[in-house]
Amino acid sequence: MSERRIWLVANWKMHGSRDSAASFSYRVNRAMGEAPAGLTTVFCPPSILLDAARAALPQNARLKLGAQNCHTHREGAFTGETSAPMLAQAGCGYVILGHSERRAQWNEECASILRKAETAIEAGLVPILCIGETQAEFEAGQTAAVLAKQAGYFATLAVGSYLIAYEPVWAIGSGKTPTVDEIAAAHQQVKSTLGSAVSVLYGGSVKPNNLREILACEGVSGALIGGASLDPDGMIAMVHTARDASGD
Ligand code: PGA
Repeated sequence: MSERRIWLVANWKMHGSRDSAASFSYRVNRAMGEAPAGLTTVFCPPSILLDAARAALPQNARLKLGAQNCHTHREGAFTGETSAPMLAQAGCGYVILGHSERRAQWNEECASILRKAETAIEAGLVPILCIGETQAEFEAGQTAAVLAKQAGYFATLAVGSYLIAYEPVWAIGSGKTPTVDEIAAAHQQVKSTLGSAVSVLYGGSVKPNNLREILACEGVSGALIGGASLDPDGMIAMVHTARDASGD
């Protein structure tokens, strides 16, 4: 039976504690126990909590770890920053880059996000590259153009070395989601820019009660989950949904 590849990524943003990160890791990894090989679950706590999350996992854990950002450089005089090789040493296999909160708060732009992605790939990490239109762009019917432009920056990266997360900015933390047709159209736009083999996740108000429908959308290879991932029971329910969708 052919297995579908699905990624579920838990983005804790600036939430959690050593205890909650350890307990989440332990429980979600256990829930992944019988999941088909095509399903990958990634836990992205704040970097300072990675160590506690990792200590709660066995050697051959099914739950993978990721970070929420890295620097453009491998090392240097950059006070307060963390490099991709350091994240790899801390046990990360993934790193979220270009999240809209960082684009808005720190003026992160596609050119520097691309440099971070190159550094991350060189360090052995899989970047999860976030793109998406704002509410105003959505209302002006500019979604396709915005996605083509943002995704286009990543065209030089080798397909398979990264994931794209399509996150409409207006859907993040708002409880609002695009229609399934809008999600399918956006994913199609990204694939027509970067190639049909690129894996594209959807993010923005994903919850246990809408994940099934989102995973059923044409072209969707998983979900980036913020608020709803803070609840381990909800995350475990979403692992079960994704397990069914990945078809074993
Ligand atoms: P949300 O966040 O699930 O809380 O909408 C998603 C994200 O910001 O990655």
